[in-house]
Amino acid sequence: MKGKVALVTGASRGIGRATAILLAAEGAAVAVNYFQNEESAIAVVEEIMKAGGRALAVRADVRDGDQVRSMVAEVEKSLGPIDLLVSNASIGFPVKPFTEFSWPEFEAKLTGELKSTFFCCQAVLPSMIERKSGCIIAISSTLSRHSSPGFIAHSTAKSGLDAFVRSLAEEVGPFGVRVNVVAPGLTLTDATAWLPEEQKAMIGKMTPLQRVALPEDIAGAVLAVASGHSRFITGCYVPVCGGMLML
Ligand SMILES: NC(=O)c1ccc[n+]([C@@H]2O[C@H](COP(=O)([O-])OP(=O)(O)OC[C@H]3O[C@@H](n4cnc5c(N)ncnc54)[C@H](OP(=O)(O)O)[C@@H]3O)[C@@H](O)[C@H]2O)c1
Repeated sequence: MKGKVALVTGASRGIGRATAILLAAEGAAVAVNYFQNEESAIAVVEEIMKAGGRALAVRADVRDGDQVRSMVAEVEKSLGPIDLLVSNASIGFPVKPFTEFSWPEFEAKLTGELKSTFFCCQAVLPSMIERKSGCIIAISSTLSRHSSPGFIAHSTAKSGLDAFVRSLAEEVGPFGVRVNVVAPGLTLTDATAWLPEEQKAMIGKMTPLQRVALPEDIAGAVLAVASGHSRFITGCYVPVCGGMLML
């Protein structure tokens, strides 16, 4: 990662935070995108800088094209052209049966999920294509490949994200840009704090590696896919779930 510039969306907390810190420890200059928690984003930047790394906190609602374009311009001006985009920001959704959904609620998750990766990819790709080099990783979910009661909006949105990644990988491969999915299983972050402890323990017991994921487990997979050693991997779906989903 030495000499590379990475933009991690939703890096003020959870998986994005762990990813930003790991990429920086491996030598990347990291743009730490946040939406509402400026203090947390600044804390991530300070942690990186304290360890001798380079980082910048950048605010943008990644569902908004104008904000994303301004953010990318700011990152490129301060850190240089972006080599790695990790599209990670968590787009919230209600967990409930299909029959209780209104279309606007369902649509907000679908469009939020796809817009965030669409706008970020469109903003970083021109420079990657011009330089004939780049890497994009979209954070999906193992729930894009299997279902769980109440998660219909999330499953549907993340399946769309997976299809988007495959098509984009096909399109930009000839320009030297790789596009892949990293798909976490249940990971202990604020987004899953509401789940009962017994349920998390049960999922851990059912997992071949006998536990649920920590944000650092997902960050490690992102680093592996982003690394130059993975230079011939594109259009892939990498489940990071201790073996709960085997393809
Ligand atoms: N945790 C899991 O079990 C799990 C499982 C499978 C997949 N995932 C996926 O992993 C990714 C990260 O999830 P997480 O669990 O780490 O979430 P999290 O701990 O709840 O953190 C969410 C992050 O996303 C940011 N964010 C939310 N809306 C945003 C927006 N509109 N624009 C920019 N940033 C926004 C938040 O920023 P602020 O705090 O600054 O507002 C925060 O940094 C998501 O794509 C999620 O779907 C998670």
